[in-house]
Amino acid sequence: MKNSIIKIGENLTDISNELTKKFLEIYKEKKKKMKVAFSGGKTPKLFFENLAELNIDWSNIDIFLVDERNVPLSSIDSNFNLLTNSLLAKINIPKENIHPIEFFSDVNKSNEYFHNDLINCFNLKKNEYPVFDFILLGLGNDGHTASLFPENFDETSTQMTLAVSDIDRIAHNRISLGLSVINNADSVAFLVTGKAKSEICKEVFISENKKYPSTHVEPKGKLLLYLDKEAASML
Ligand code: 6PG
Repeated sequence: MKNSIIKIGENLTDISNELTKKFLEIYKEKKKKMKVAFSGGKTPKLFFENLAELNIDWSNIDIFLVDERNVPLSSIDSNFNLLTNSLLAKINIPKENIHPIEFFSDVNKSNEYFHNDLINCFNLKKNEYPVFDFILLGLGNDGHTASLFPENFDETSTQMTLAVSDIDRIAHNRISLGLSVINNADSVAFLVTGKAKSEICKEVFISENKKYPSTHVEPKGKLLLYLDKEAASML
């Protein structure tokens, strides 16, 4: 993809270590408080655990989620639950720097909470979008990222956040950052591993097949593609 930097690691451990180094580099370059957003799923667990070992002043970092399943935060399916167990519970970070997406049974209320939290934390004026310093994305086999699925993706959407509730094959309703916010970031990193992702990596990162939402991730800042050898095997 245009303006992207590809890093290929031996395996999940290796590429997670490489992304940890990159995150620390970005953190050291920032002269102000950083605002980051992390995706959930299975892949980033080791990266989160690595972050917990870094010598970072977490009072300088606000942590958001890229997306969330609309389940109680204590649920095993919650991305916040994953982030808490692998990172937040292990570091000294002020509570006000942690931004879970409050759970409401009505996913639209959860989405409204997320939207308002972004406006308040970034002190946004009308029609302004947050500028994240770092966004971590995963890639689904169907080409989704965040909770932007082929079924609900609208490349013209200017929504800051969105509720996803009409996709039967997805276990839970979702709340997600919109594409406009993702593309407004200074750095966006995809972390993708495993042979099963090799075909979709080729479709998205080489063929740039626009039918996949991930192909529309074209940030104003840097696009970092951190893949292990298996995921990159068809590039
Ligand atoms: C989620 C994620 C989602 C994830 C991809 C890849 O809520 O599940 O935000 O977008 O990044 O589905 O997930 P894996 O890392 O588990 O393959």
